[in-house]
Amino acid sequence: MKPHPNFQLLFILFLFIFIFPTITTSSSSPSLPLPPTPSPTSPPSSPTTSKTTLDPKQITALQSLNIPTSKDPCTQPSYHNATLCDSSKPFRHLISLTLSNCTSHLSLSFTALKSLSTLTSLNLINCPISPFHFPQELITSLKTFTFINSFNKISGVWLSQLHNLTDLTISNVQVKASGPYVILGHMNYLNSLTISNANLTGFLPGHIHSNLTHVDFSGNQLKGNIPFSITMLESLESLNLSSNKLVGEIPSSIGDLISLKNLSLASNSFSGSIPDSFSSVPDLVHLDLSSNQLNGTIPKFISQLKNIKYLNLANNNLHGAVPFNQSFIKGLEVFKVGGNSNLCYNHSILSSKLKLGISHCDKYGKPVSPPAAKDSSEDDSSDDDYDDSDDDDGSSKHKKDQHHGPNKFVLGVAIALSSIVFLIVFLIVCSKCCRGR
Ligand SMILES: *[C@@H]1O[C@H](CO)[C@@H](O)[C@H](O)[C@H]1NC(C)=O
Ligand SMILES: *[C@@H]1O[C@H](CO)[C@@H](O)[C@H](O)[C@H]1NC(C)=O
Ligand SMILES: *[C@@H]1O[C@H](CO)[C@@H](O)[C@H](O)[C@H]1NC(C)=O
Ligand SMILES: *[C@@H]1O[C@H](CO)[C@@H](O)[C@H](O)[C@H]1NC(C)=O
Ligand SMILES: *[C@@H]1O[C@H](CO)[C@@H](O)[C@H](O)[C@H]1NC(C)=O
Ligand SMILES: *[C@@H]1O[C@H](CO)[C@@H](O)[C@H](O)[C@H]1NC(C)=O
Ligand SMILES: *[C@@H]1O[C@H](CO)[C@@H](O)[C@H](O)[C@H]1NC(C)=O
Ligand SMILES: *[C@@H]1O[C@H](CO)[C@@H](O)[C@H](O)[C@H]1NC(C)=O
Ligand SMILES: *[C@@H]1O[C@H](CO)[C@@H](O)[C@H](O)[C@H]1NC(C)=O
Ligand SMILES: *[C@@H]1O[C@H](CO)[C@@H](O)[C@H](O)[C@H]1NC(C)=O
Repeated sequence: MKPHPNFQLLFILFLFIFIFPTITTSSSSPSLPLPPTPSPTSPPSSPTTSKTTLDPKQITALQSLNIPTSKDPCTQPSYHNATLCDSSKPFRHLISLTLSNCTSHLSLSFTALKSLSTLTSLNLINCPISPFHFPQELITSLKTFTFINSFNKISGVWLSQLHNLTDLTISNVQVKASGPYVILGHMNYLNSLTISNANLTGFLPGHIHSNLTHVDFSGNQLKGNIPFSITMLESLESLNLSSNKLVGEIPSSIGDLISLKNLSLASNSFSGSIPDSFSSVPDLVHLDLSSNQLNGTIPKFISQLKNIKYLNLANNNLHGAVPFNQSFIKGLEVFKVGGNSNLCYNHSILSSKLKLGISHCDKYGKPVSPPAAKDSSEDDSSDDDYDDSDDDDGSSKHKKDQHHGPNKFVLGVAIALSSIVFLIVFLIVCSKCCRGR
């Protein structure tokens, strides 16, 4: 049985279309380059001698940090964007240093740091590094300090010496302090503050004297109420207090945060109702109050916030009818209200197709009880949304209609492709055999 030549051609074409791209893409998949060992023989004054270049003392310091300097670190883009220089003469100086994905355990020696004290920005990301001492010159010049997943543990007192910071980001590092005030007490110029996933304990500080625009304390062990010091930050655009142990009511002074765009108070133990003062925060885009113990009804004014795109009120004790219409809900990117057992939606205003994760209201404005599923016999799309509860934190309308389709599709394609490949191999072997005769 000899395959028709045209068929052979067709299969070889298939081979090229399906297999060749996979080979080429896999061979070019980004393997993170390790620092190319700078050739020790090349003198620092190679072809770029004519240009102003980095201070030799800083070159030595960079070499001690395994940053290749065979190419002028001041040329952009630098190796892994690790370095940025000023334009002073005769030598340029480093103003920003970012160490990321360090391959070995680094130590920032005092000598190296002292010669690097022109830095205004120091960033350590995924870099296991030993604790180090800041020279006074560096303390004075540093404005931005980022520390992500880099030490096992740091102390609040150690951080607190960085008085002149405008941007502080600490994440996935355990911070030992009796409260945020220890760290922030003397940082009078902060604009942006993130201390997240740091197991920070204590209370929110009673006094924050600065023009903060961004505060993120998410993923800590902070307790107590939201103090007035927070709601007095008029420039605040984003506030994230999610996943702490905060309690009490959301203060109505939250309405004083007139610049606020993003707010998350999710996963705490806030109680009471959603304050009316939210209506005076005109630019709110992202509001996440999920997983608390908020009660009362959902205020209708939320639908008058003209920029709102993300609204998550899931897993609270809210009751009554959802006060929004279909077009408002469809305009949101995320809308979640599931996990509020006394909340319901008005059947004649909202369609069950929105899959809100709550049941519809009876004529008294209470959720129809779950057994009312019998009702749905008169309507082919079931109104009883309790069967959606596999979506654990309420419901996202973007998840509808997905079911388990994609997996089956992928499996189908995989089977089809492997059959084709098998067939090709078989035919090639077969044709070779035939030719051999
Ligand atoms: C360096 O920064 C530029 C511009 O921000 C960016 O396009 C590039 O991907 C960065 N390179 C690396 C290796 O991170
Ligand atoms: C560091 O590693 C992460 C994850 O492996 C990667 O996404 C990132 O681009 C890397 N950054 C640099 C500068 O190599
Ligand atoms: C902060 O910077 C100013 C100069 O900009 C300097 O005079 C002051 O000493 C610095 N503060 C600290 C604590 O280093
Ligand atoms: C925070 O504490 C928990 C439990 O005590 C621990 O599993 C987690 O690793 C700690 N997080 C950090 C960033 O140290
Ligand atoms: C906040 O900013 C204003 C003007 O933008 C400035 O006058 C004031 O000194 C700043 N306050 C602090 C504590 O930095
Ligand atoms: C708050 O922080 C959490 C965890 O760090 C994050 O998932 C969430 O997107 C943040 N929310 C806002 C509004 O910044
Ligand atoms: C809501 O919770 C607050 C505080 O827990 C409580 O005082 C109030 O009675 C509750 N209101 C309703 C309507 O359940
Ligand atoms: C604010 O929320 C929007 C919409 O959810 C999101 O795209 C943006 O990244 C958030 N910004 C900050 C600073 O969290
Ligand atoms: C839906 O609600 C929004 C916000 O309250 C309102 O502006 C809009 O007119 C309403 N649409 C309809 C069709 O009622
Ligand atoms: C549902 O909406 C209709 C039409 O607006 C209204 O007449 C009815 O009273 C509402 N039902 C409940 C329980 O709010």
